[in-house]
Amino acid sequence: MVGTPWQMVVAYVVIIASSLSLLTYWITKKFVLRKMNRTIMKAEHNYQQQIASLQMQLSGKVTVLEGMVNKLRLSNQELTRLNEIRSKFMSIVAHDLRQPLSSIQGFASVLMMDGPQGSGNNDQIALNNILKATDNMNMLMADLMDISMIESGRFKMDGQPFTFNTLVSDVVTLQAVNAQKKGIFLQKYDYPKDITVTADRFRLSQVLSNLIGNAIKFAPQGGRVEVSYYDEDPYLVCRVSDNGPGILHTEKEKIFQKFHQSDNNRNLKKQGWGLGLSIAQEIVNAHGGEIGVESAGLGQGAMFWFAFPKVPVASPAKPTV
Ligand SMILES: Nc1ncnc2c1ncn2[C@@H]1O[C@H](COP(=O)(O)OP(=O)(O)OP(=O)(O)O)[C@@H](O)[C@H]1O
Ligand SMILES: [Mg+2]
Repeated sequence: MVGTPWQMVVAYVVIIASSLSLLTYWITKKFVLRKMNRTIMKAEHNYQQQIASLQMQLSGKVTVLEGMVNKLRLSNQELTRLNEIRSKFMSIVAHDLRQPLSSIQGFASVLMMDGPQGSGNNDQIALNNILKATDNMNMLMADLMDISMIESGRFKMDGQPFTFNTLVSDVVTLQAVNAQKKGIFLQKYDYPKDITVTADRFRLSQVLSNLIGNAIKFAPQGGRVEVSYYDEDPYLVCRVSDNGPGILHTEKEKIFQKFHQSDNNRNLKKQGWGLGLSIAQEIVNAHGGEIGVESAGLGQGAMFWFAFPKVPVASPAKPTV
């Protein structure tokens, strides 16, 4: 059965269109898809190679890092060992130098008493200088021994009951001579007389001596230093204030670090080693207390304070100073 000519044309067109689409599909599959596949496989291969090389680099870096950690551990061990040696050395030096130093001091005092008297006498001036220098060295030795004891954990407090007022009186009396030399008015507020504390009297005297000594050292000629204390149950709070150069806000914590001396008092720096406050802090901390400083800034004077429990307690509330 033969259709109309139109039907024949449509049939031919359908056949030609089908053949063309089959041809297009075949060409696409043969050339384009294959090429795409090849490109994808190549890219995959490249990525795999890159990942492998990155993994190798990473493992190399991990090995280097492990080596560095090991080196760091060894240096750390070495540092700890050297620190122990330094600490031991410091304590041996400080201890062994004290003996000859006290001999020098003794002989210089004898020569001073035996020699011709008079303030203008050259021998007396020289002997006086020797005594001053040995005094300074003695103080440094004592500080170095304290530091070495602190570092080796041998810094122990010996708590005994005593009246705090007697300690303040003793320290103020000793420091009064230095205050007088600078024309400084050193005032102690004589109240409250009867607070008894259980603490290491010698070590707390050391704290107060350093605070008053510093106040006298840094206050101007003819200045003023005040010492007071009060009961802030369960704490005793002691304050030393002066009208000296004061402390910069940024220095308030630094001055309690070993050997730290503020740059503001360049010429007074030489009169010390920057050890007093760090030792004072160790002593107060060992009593379960706190030490600090208040100052409105440079030229505004300073008020140093320390507070400690009147009777040793496990964990008292913080003092309000
Ligand atoms: N009353 C004060 N006024 C101003 N600055 C002070 C005062 N007390 C301490 N300082 C600052 O804090 C620094 C550290 O004080 P610290 O008592 O530790 O050392 P030092 O007095 O210099 O030496 P050392 O106490 O070892 O003889 C001082 O050098 C000074 O810069
Ligand atoms: Mg000092």
